[in-house]
Amino acid sequence: MVDRGVFDPVEHLSGMAFASHLLDLDFSGQRVLELGTGCGLLAFVASRRGGHVVATDVDPRAAECAIGNLVGTGIDVRIGDLFDPVNGEMFDTLIVNPPYEVGRARRPTLRSPDVLERLSIEWSSVAKELLIAFPTDSIDILRDCGIDAPLVNRIGTQARELGVFRQR
Ligand SMILES: C[S@@+](CC[C@H](N)C(=O)[O-])C[C@H]1O[C@@H](n2cnc3c(N)ncnc32)[C@H](O)[C@@H]1O
Repeated sequence: MVDRGVFDPVEHLSGMAFASHLLDLDFSGQRVLELGTGCGLLAFVASRRGGHVVATDVDPRAAECAIGNLVGTGIDVRIGDLFDPVNGEMFDTLIVNPPYEVGRARRPTLRSPDVLERLSIEWSSVAKELLIAFPTDSIDILRDCGIDAPLVNRIGTQARELGVFRQR
């Protein structure tokens, strides 16, 4: 279920493409944080692949949608900005399918004024590894925001090609 106003991973394709990448990974025994979980799809996949998952979103509608979708999975869904909901905790892997557009926030699902910049500064104090999805035609935005992670996978979609970037 994707509630109204929550990022739809099928409509936007990036969610489904990133999910297909995560399906090939093994998170057994790892603590995994998914930042900006939306409807909870990526958190669900990471959990199915063995991860102990915490999923967060700044948008209460998204967090409530994820909570409903993830009943019985053991995934811990929390509401809050960036790393506020996991203050003081450490994770093995951080998964992010971020808002791709920077600038003044219209809808936080697609546009965020500074989430990428803040992520680039803070992520390594929260996780050992970052897995971030971003359209390959907009790598400059990612780099300009300070995230210089190597590209590890290119996934073609009917819309834009999605890159998966991984940094340790
Ligand atoms: C592109 S959507 C991805 C949703 C989901 N992970 C997926 O792939 O289907 C980005 C998500 O990040 C959330 N978000 C935006 N800014 C955030 C912030 N500062 N802290 C936490 N989550 C944020 C949005 O509410 C949205 O659900």
